[in-house]
Amino acid sequence: MGIGRVIGTNVMETRFRIDFEENLQVGELLVVESQNKEGKYLVRVMDIEHAADKEDSGWMSRTAGMIMKKDDSDMSPYEQYLFCIGVSSPLGYIDEASFKKTKTLPTHFSEVRYTQADDYEFLKSYLGEIEIGNLRSGDKVLDFPVGISEKAIPYHIGIFATTGMGKSNLMKNLALSCMSKGNCGFLIFDPHGEYFNGGELSKKGLKDAPYKESFAVYSSRDLPSNGGEYSKLIISSAEIEISDLEAIYEFTEAQKECLQTAQYKYKNDWLNKLDELEVDEIVANLPGYQSGTISVIKRRLSNLFRLNLVSKDKNYSVTARIINQLHEGKTILVDTSNAHETEELLISTVISRAVFEKNKLLYSDGKEFSKLPNVLIAIEEAQRVLKEAEDSVFAQIAREGRKFKTGLCAVSQQPKLIANEVISQFNTLFILGLSDKKDREILKNSAKQDISQVDNEIQMLMPGEAIVASPFTPFAVPVKVHLYEERLKNIKVPEKNKPKAADEGFF
Ligand SMILES: Nc1ncnc2c1ncn2[C@@H]1O[C@H](COP(=O)(O)OP(=O)(O)O)[C@@H](O)[C@H]1O
Ligand SMILES: [Mg+2]
Repeated sequence: MGIGRVIGTNVMETRFRIDFEENLQVGELLVVESQNKEGKYLVRVMDIEHAADKEDSGWMSRTAGMIMKKDDSDMSPYEQYLFCIGVSSPLGYIDEASFKKTKTLPTHFSEVRYTQADDYEFLKSYLGEIEIGNLRSGDKVLDFPVGISEKAIPYHIGIFATTGMGKSNLMKNLALSCMSKGNCGFLIFDPHGEYFNGGELSKKGLKDAPYKESFAVYSSRDLPSNGGEYSKLIISSAEIEISDLEAIYEFTEAQKECLQTAQYKYKNDWLNKLDELEVDEIVANLPGYQSGTISVIKRRLSNLFRLNLVSKDKNYSVTARIINQLHEGKTILVDTSNAHETEELLISTVISRAVFEKNKLLYSDGKEFSKLPNVLIAIEEAQRVLKEAEDSVFAQIAREGRKFKTGLCAVSQQPKLIANEVISQFNTLFILGLSDKKDREILKNSAKQDISQVDNEIQMLMPGEAIVASPFTPFAVPVKVHLYEERLKNIKVPEKNKPKAADEGFF
């Protein structure tokens, strides 16, 4: 069963001579069985080097070769002299079910072997019920489910990867797990229209998940009629604050002051009035402001009402309903894929702020608050709203959300554009293939775990392969995320939750 023998080097790095026939990969997890110890060491392969026995090669590796020859008497001379060296970093020491940091060395020439599912029993207590995939060793997938705990939600989640590496697929897995458990609220803003039905014919969406009671959709576009129920997405102009607009449009100081004066003068109706009244009337109502300033503001705001996403009626809005559903532990999809970016950001900002403020309000009512589930708000291309630490409600949630059971799930292909202060708030990082060195550097510095040893591995990740770094696990856990479409096929669902025949496209 052994694949090699330890030849050095120190507590921080285990080198071993690899059996000629083994085709080891970077990122693989291995066990080092130390002869005179009860427990075993778990290590992760960081690098592999070529080597050969020759006059000046080390005594340790030559001796390891002799021991390995004794283990396997059929070795050809070629196999006896040429070999590779595995360079691994210790993850920890497993003694029965307990797992400790490595502080000792395995005995000289300890046997190294592949891991099997029962080596990871200790890991179960660190993982959670929001399942996303299976444990991975290199590109081998082990029969050992990996998920994060619902308790990790208010400590924020980052999903970072180059385009095409599996961010959206991972999001669908998170949503599926949240829906099936129904013990946390999950609000997903979808600017690309890919989550409802998968976006492409070959893909499946959240509507295909068999948990209808814990799922609701709000959409600004008309969705395919066989897709199940959805509500029209609409918010009220009375819910929009000046700060929401500032996060989206550039305003000069004079324009900002003018907005404030208008809000003071027209109260809740200020946006409607700025839209409806003529420039002259507004100038008359707001003395001291030039008609030029007011024209610019009017032009900027004219887009707000264009798509009928913003109603002028203060009672006509989906925000309150969304908040209630989140508090019932539902997953809510907000599809803004036919809106322009400014409107999409405005909608996400206004709804997220309302969710956050409601939780803050409930916080003072201890009893009510203790009953609330955690709420996770997911925003795509999060670098747009997290560039600066002060800028948006999303940055504010990242800084303060923990106390108010509100977590942020930032999805981004460019974490380097996110403000340092914000990115350091993300305790759970899902890192998929990330080709840009600067992006990896940023994550290395902000991760709550030392992930410097997995830098090689991150560059080699294939779509769907991820590393989960969080303070809740003893090391950065390598995962193969489930392919959502495959996972759906394998779910066993109670009869009553099954999708209706019409949803499956039968006539
Ligand atoms: N866990 C996975 N297993 C297998 N293939 C995957 C997995 N995740 C992603 N892929 C493949 O990669 C493609 C892109 O994934 P996607 O989630 O859309 O990436 P992103 O959102 O990062 O651009 C998918 O269409 C699928 O073919
Ligand atoms: Mg995507």
